[in-house]
Amino acid sequence: MKNLVIIAHDPSPNTQTMVQAVLEGAGDAAIDGVSSRHVRPLDAGPDDVLQADAVIFGTTENLGYMSGALKDFFDRCFYELLDKTDAMPFAVFIRAGKDGTGTRRAIESICGGLNWKQAQEPLICRGDWDDAFLDQCRELGMTMAAGLEAGAF
Ligand SMILES: Cc1cc2nc3c(=O)[nH]c(=O)nc-3n(C[C@H](O)[C@H](O)[C@H](O)COP(=O)(O)O)c2cc1C
Repeated sequence: MKNLVIIAHDPSPNTQTMVQAVLEGAGDAAIDGVSSRHVRPLDAGPDDVLQADAVIFGTTENLGYMSGALKDFFDRCFYELLDKTDAMPFAVFIRAGKDGTGTRRAIESICGGLNWKQAQEPLICRGDWDDAFLDQCRELGMTMAAGLEAGAF
């Protein structure tokens, strides 16, 4: 069984439904052999990643950057993960009122420093709420889990 961990900050009803949609996609009936779970960044530690085969990060964009909660996760865990998680596949989804690029750049930079591999294009759900974001989140979760099952990463 492969393990997919979703480390996502979900401070609002919309972001909570996004996390649920990622989990739904990752748990698609067509995918066997991948176990997925959500951990909030403030509750996550290095072991959550060390036990995982792939990671999906989720965050709001706040003041042009990832949430403080996700940044705190990286601050606490970076050196515990460095050199132990090379080539870890990861994906990102961002809920942004109007931008999202600062958050994307920051996460890509930190994960690049860890020598991780981005497995798919980041999903930025930008602007007014749109229910289509949930389909995109489902697809992101499904693509990640299917790739993990297929040994594509
Ligand atoms: C203090 C604060 C700062 C924010 N800064 C940004 C920002 O820099 N860029 C952006 O695109 N959205 C920004 N937003 C919008 C949030 O990303 C958005 O409110 C959040 O994703 C929640 O959306 P939701 O109501 O659909 O859950 C900010 C929101 C707050 C409360």
